[in-house]
Amino acid sequence: MTTETALPDFTIAPNLQPMAEDARLKAFENLGFGTLFTDHMAVILWDADKGWHSAEIKARGPFSIDPAASVLHYAQEIFEGMKAYRAPDDRILLFRPEENARRFARSAERMAMPEIPEALFLKAVEELVKIDAKWVPEGEGSLYLRPFMFASETFLGVRPSRQYIFCVIASPVGPYFKGGGKPVTLWVSEDFTRAGPGGTGAAKCGGNYAGSLLAQAEATRRGCDQVVFLDAAEHRWVEELGGMNVFFVMDDGTVVTPPLSGTILPGITRASIIKLCGENGLNVVERPYSFDEWKADAQSGKLREAFACGTAAVIAAIGTVRHAGGEFVIGNAGTGLQTETLRTQLTSIQRGQAPDAHGWVKTVDLG
Ligand code: PLP
Ligand code: COI
Repeated sequence: MTTETALPDFTIAPNLQPMAEDARLKAFENLGFGTLFTDHMAVILWDADKGWHSAEIKARGPFSIDPAASVLHYAQEIFEGMKAYRAPDDRILLFRPEENARRFARSAERMAMPEIPEALFLKAVEELVKIDAKWVPEGEGSLYLRPFMFASETFLGVRPSRQYIFCVIASPVGPYFKGGGKPVTLWVSEDFTRAGPGGTGAAKCGGNYAGSLLAQAEATRRGCDQVVFLDAAEHRWVEELGGMNVFFVMDDGTVVTPPLSGTILPGITRASIIKLCGENGLNVVERPYSFDEWKADAQSGKLREAFACGTAAVIAAIGTVRHAGGEFVIGNAGTGLQTETLRTQLTSIQRGQAPDAHGWVKTVDLG
């Protein structure tokens, strides 16, 4: 539940030393993921006595926090990932931002943190996009937005912090994977798991990602782009990738995706794809799908396509799957028709190049 108290006003203090125009445009020529940042950030503080206060837009820069700040010890931290796109008519669009706000509130609840009201979350994001609007690239790029919140109280006791910092930073990005739109190769981790029943798998908390890094490093060592996690209880059911959900397209037009069982992140891209698949006449089934079934379906040809999806990666075809016992290829290891169609449909809506029949897109008021 979000509380409907009056929202604090933002103090706006523009960066007096923004990046030079020519340096920015040069950096735009070769955008990767998460290395370049805009001139500003949004910051809002919370403490147990005052609630949300001191909302600011200011120059992006370091925080000063005490070495005993509880986030540094007990990892009370959550985040979101969303994007702003430049439409052909130069409007700047956000894709389903209220879904990110709601998921952020659910993550906060799970991590015993205060919920930021949806309207305040959205205002922080929009104020940042507004002041850094020139950082939203044209063409294939987008402005990746990273709202996050962490426990800032100076205290080593193990209980929820009584102080938090909420912040939004922004990073112009190109493709998430180095290969651009090429099909990705996955490593199935049969030893490490990401989340167990009753754990934090459905929350977007930093700790989930810390726990995935060793498995991801193993994937990289095996020449793979991403790790696939199986369930913690049986090491049998496909759950999701380190930072993406996964879909399987069968030869009869059925599309299978693991259910939201509490151990995977409820992806906003995932929910949007389920909707688009239905409209495309595909039959989406949210059900447990085992690694054995995956291997057998790829081998028999029943599985035609598979793809990973998320805000950062959008939709990435899965070409090859490696595991301790060998590897297999999906379809002809290329990008299948359904994957390509969904990618075009989704990105066209996100970028304002196609009608937004679902009301998914929000125009940022740059006024
Ligand atoms: N699963 C994980 C673990 C993620 O980190 C992400 C990315 O945010 C997703 C799935 C996809 O979620 P979304 O589509 O909302 O970006
Ligand atoms: C996203 O897609 O927004 C993610 O958070 C995935 C990854 C960059 C952590």
